[in-house]
Amino acid sequence: MNIIKVKDQDLGGKEAFNIIATAIKNGAKVLGLATGSSPITMYNEMTNSDIDFSNMTSVNLDEYVGLKADNDQSYHYFMNEHLFSKKPFKNSYVPDGSNPDAAAATSEYDKIIADNPIDVQVLGIGRNGHIGFNEPGSPLDGKTSKVALTESTIEANKRFFDDEKDVPRYAYSMGIGSIMKAKKIILVAYGENKADAIAKTVNGPVTEDVPASALQNHPDVTLILDDAAASKL
Ligand code: F6R
Repeated sequence: MNIIKVKDQDLGGKEAFNIIATAIKNGAKVLGLATGSSPITMYNEMTNSDIDFSNMTSVNLDEYVGLKADNDQSYHYFMNEHLFSKKPFKNSYVPDGSNPDAAAATSEYDKIIADNPIDVQVLGIGRNGHIGFNEPGSPLDGKTSKVALTESTIEANKRFFDDEKDVPRYAYSMGIGSIMKAKKIILVAYGENKADAIAKTVNGPVTEDVPASALQNHPDVTLILDDAAASKL
C-alpha cells in the first residue's frame, strides 16, 4: 500500500484529485465514488478544476434503503450537491434505495458495475473498518447486497439527521469483491477516530472483521491520511 501523509483534509483533497487527474490523462473513464465527509475536499478540487467529466461515468458505492434520490439525506442527493450539479458526468450510477426489492436492486447494480469496469475507486473508511457499507463480517469477495448497518455506523451517521431514529437501518452496498476489481484505489481518512481502523487495515491480518484489510491484497492502493489518522501506524 502507498501511504501519503498530509497536514490536513484540504491537502488530502488535492492529493486525491491529482491521482484522479493523472488517471484521467492516462485514459480512465469510470470513477467509483464515495459519500461521507472524507471525500468532500476532493470533490471541491474536482468542481474547481477545468477537467471535463461529461464523457465519463461514475459508479457510487452505496445508498440507504428507503430513501428516494430527492431526499436530502440520500447519497444521490449528496452526490448531486457536491459534484454532479457542478460537474456532470455522462452517466452517474448510485444504487436505487427507493427499490424495496433487494434482489432486483442489487442484481441491477451488479450489472451496472460489470458493464462499467471501475478505473479508480475512491473510498472512505468507517471507524470499524467498513468500506462502502460492508460492515465487519462481510465476505471479502462479495457483490452488491442489502446490508444492515451496525450500531457504530448508525451512531456515526446520526450527525447528518435531525433524530437518530431517522437514520436508515439498511443500505445497498457494492461488495468488497467488486471494490477489489477496480484498477486503482484511493482511500482517504482524516481524524483520530479513524486511527485504529487504519492501523488494522495496514498492519493487521486480512480478515472479515476489518473489511478494509482486504485492500492489502490489491496491487494499487493509495491511502491519504492526516497525522491523526496515521497516528497508530
Ligand atoms: C460512503 C461510504 C462509507 C464512508 C465511511 C466514512 O459512501 O462508503 O464507507 O466512506 O463511513 O465516512 P466519513 O467520511 O463521513 O467519515
